Amino acid sequence: MKTVRTIMEVRAELPSEGVGLVPTMGALHAGHIALFEAARCECAFLVASVFVNPAQFGPDEDYERYPRDQKADAKVAEAAGVDLLFAPSTDEMYPAGFDTWVEVENLGRALEGQFRPRHFTGVATICLKLFNIIRPERAYFGQKDAQQVAVVKQMVRDLDLALEIRVVPTVRDPDGLAVSSRNVYLSADERRRALTLPRALAAGEAAHRSGQDPVEAARTSMNGLDVDYVEAVRLDGQLVLEAAVRVGGTRLIDNVVLEGER
Ligand code: PAJ
Repeated sequence: MKTVRTIMEVRAELPSEGVGLVPTMGALHAGHIALFEAARCECAFLVASVFVNPAQFGPDEDYERYPRDQKADAKVAEAAGVDLLFAPSTDEMYPAGFDTWVEVENLGRALEGQFRPRHFTGVATICLKLFNIIRPERAYFGQKDAQQVAVVKQMVRDLDLALEIRVVPTVRDPDGLAVSSRNVYLSADERRRALTLPRALAAGEAAHRSGQDPVEAARTSMNGLDVDYVEAVRLDGQLVLEAAVRVGGTRLIDNVVLEGER
């Protein structure tokens, strides 16, 4: 596996076809590895990007303390069969004078967007840049961030981008907590409390199956958590039960698919 840091270098390494892309912000874990494995099966040449994108963090968010470990990431990516790792600097992606943003208006303002106003503008813009730089035939995203998937698919449709978005199911730790780079922020006690989130979503799913209100059931089960939202929303042909909570200083999001292909 080769690691490159500039747009010129990455373009020089790309074959003319069969390219798959897994965009990440690093601190690679089992969730990312599931994306690499899915991509590995379907693509002749696998590119992973590692870039902690400042544009998708709000001013009071965790951009500065977001976990960064390039050496560990390179090992994980190589072991998972990544061919080329693109790890650009902030200046490479946002040079002085950068002034163009992609806004997915309505979807980007809902759910997460209510609590993170410019977040999806940052996500859509960096994804479009990565798609243009790497020109993949397929790009892989996790169901863990269901609204992100919907935003990226909306952008691909609206801007006629010639690639396929592939979605990989959420990877969970054995206790049920969705794997996330932000889980390292949790103390042992916070982690125990965080388990309320997947359990509440499972309760919502069970309620939905027996004809009851999933939101109500999940909300009741979240007693004691600091809840930003619990909502059942139609995203990209699925009915998804989405929730965001705060445990101590850590914000966690998770979802379960209530209806539609998983
Ligand atoms: P990051 O949080 O590093 O996640 C990269 C990809 O891994 C995303 O598609 C995310 O949904 C997926 N992922 C994370 N945890 C997962 C889990 N437990 N199971 C399955 N997939 C999981 O999401 C981002 O980075 C950024 O917003 C990015 C798309 C790279 C743009 O900056």
